[in-house]
Amino acid sequence: MKFYILTFKLFIIRLTMNTLNRCNIVLPKILCERFYNLVTELSDMIFADFTCMNYGYDNGNDIEIIEEFKNERYPAQLYNYVATFGNRLNISNLDLLEVGSGRGGGLSYLTQSYKPKSSTGLELSPKAVAFCKTRHKAVNACFLQGNSQSIPFPDESFDIVINIESSHCYQHIQLFLNEVKRVLRKDGYFCIADFRDSHKLEDFFSELNSSGLKIVHKENITQNVLKALTLSSNDKEEFYKTINIPNIYRKTLSDFAGTIGSRKYNDFKSGIRQYYYFVLQKQKI
Ligand SMILES: C[S@@+](CC[C@H](N)C(=O)[O-])C[C@H]1O[C@@H](n2cnc3c(N)ncnc32)[C@H](O)[C@@H]1O
Repeated sequence: MKFYILTFKLFIIRLTMNTLNRCNIVLPKILCERFYNLVTELSDMIFADFTCMNYGYDNGNDIEIIEEFKNERYPAQLYNYVATFGNRLNISNLDLLEVGSGRGGGLSYLTQSYKPKSSTGLELSPKAVAFCKTRHKAVNACFLQGNSQSIPFPDESFDIVINIESSHCYQHIQLFLNEVKRVLRKDGYFCIADFRDSHKLEDFFSELNSSGLKIVHKENITQNVLKALTLSSNDKEEFYKTINIPNIYRKTLSDFAGTIGSRKYNDFKSGIRQYYYFVLQKQKI
């Protein structure tokens, strides 16, 4: 029975990914929510131990990673680099909001490693939020369901907002940026990392440029992401071999995870798709 349910879920995920690749579109919010509900269900069935959903980051500096995240070193390294601005930003004692917190691993990692004053994760998929509430219940972080385009907090509630590999899903990124500016305190930071197809990069840059926040750092981290994908590829492929699914869906998993030779991996390698990291700051008016 589990075999058929898995196969069916993978079929829908494969269909969605192929359609997105072919038509180059962003899913409407309701479909995006359903897609990530499905990803969460699938993850619960086969990747129950995995709590991060990003491609990862490696810059050759081996940082100390707490035991719980040893198997998710590269995704945790992405969180570490992005939220601490490569150790230039001390997030202890800050009120931290993550928008698009997924399965909560990144926020849990940051909370345990740096002990912010408060940690809040806002996520569109109700199933992912339900997972977080159980999986990370011992962590001093709060997870809630909501939409990046209407953040359910009063003005000036946070010192830092982070957003990792989520903004490419948003239909109206300008509305999201307005919300980030609203909920940030003066001098607060917005740290965002995400990929775009190369022909959409200029749009991404001008959206951030016109956000009303000051860009204090801009970095192309595609090579660091590619290195993380390369280093983690073998372990992922070995793991996929142990799952009882038709072979064609192993390829779907490889593509979703970006293992060596997959379409996503090759797109990063050739530059068709690039991964950027920005730090923006809310200025005093
Ligand atoms: C690729 S996952 C990344 C999750 C997490 N940041 C990580 O790195 O593990 C993208 C996440 O963004 C969430 N998302 C997409 N659209 C959203 C929206 N409009 N508001 C909030 N979250 C959204 C998805 O449900 C998904 O969990």
